[in-house]
Amino acid sequence: MTQWSTQHRKAGHALALVPTMGFLHDGHLSLMKEGKHLGDRLVVSIFVNPTQFGPGEDLATYPRNLERDFRLCRETGADAVFTPNTADLYPPGSDTFIFQQKLPNHLCGLSRTGHFQGVMTIVAKLFNIVRPDVAVFGEKDFQQLAVIRRMVKDLNFNIRIVGHPTVRESDGLAMSSRNSKLSPDQRVTAQCLNMALKIAQGSLEKNITDAAILTKNAADFIQSHPETAIDFITICDPDTLENVSKIDKPVLMALAVKVGATRLIDNMILHPNRTPQK
Ligand code: PAJ
Repeated sequence: MTQWSTQHRKAGHALALVPTMGFLHDGHLSLMKEGKHLGDRLVVSIFVNPTQFGPGEDLATYPRNLERDFRLCRETGADAVFTPNTADLYPPGSDTFIFQQKLPNHLCGLSRTGHFQGVMTIVAKLFNIVRPDVAVFGEKDFQQLAVIRRMVKDLNFNIRIVGHPTVRESDGLAMSSRNSKLSPDQRVTAQCLNMALKIAQGSLEKNITDAAILTKNAADFIQSHPETAIDFITICDPDTLENVSKIDKPVLMALAVKVGATRLIDNMILHPNRTPQK
């Protein structure tokens, strides 16, 4: 991979990287299309990274279909697909991980201990192997994008990080490889994540600016659907991810909910009512 990159860099081509864990969907393909715009050559990596899964999480059952992924990469115009295996990236004796102090202590980091350490480590390794000029990440994983932007600044990676808006199904469900694990009934239930965010935005437009009320309403709404278990529903500052109680500027509302055995996430920037109240 590094040889391929070096050749293309020598030829003056700017390289774009889209890191993924495969089982590609239209969200990934949208990132890849943006990557093609941003660089002269597009590299897609596909690697289900074990160090970002905790014990009891879904590493073993994470959906995989490499043949289909290759076809989609080809059709979308990827110039190279990097599919290392675990022994390549974590040979015996591997012992170094990247740690970040603040951003991982919120949202998904609270229930997924060590998750962002694993994400940062694999992304840094991919950056060092592929040496891209630009890398594209989805806003669907808002905290991941924030953590990676911070890491790139702090560790002086000379790589431009571009965030890409969340791609959704027609009913609003954020696309995710994990959606394939939902039963037909659970798939219907899963709409409630995005609906809860939209309801909160609607309440804010009616000038309900108390974050506790908005999160309570969202929790009640989600719990009224079968097979749901809330991990968190949080309203926070989009930069620091610190909790916000009174909403007087744009905030991030993020949530993680288990539908059956499948953990789903979604988020939205909520904008307080800008029109003056009568
Ligand atoms: P994965 O979940 O496969 O996602 C790969 C990239 O696609 C991430 O940047 C993610 O935010 C983005 N993405 C996923 N669903 C999306 C959607 N509906 N709309 C827009 N973008 C979406 O995120 C990972 O893999 C891993 O943590 C990784 C960064 C590859 C490190 O292992």
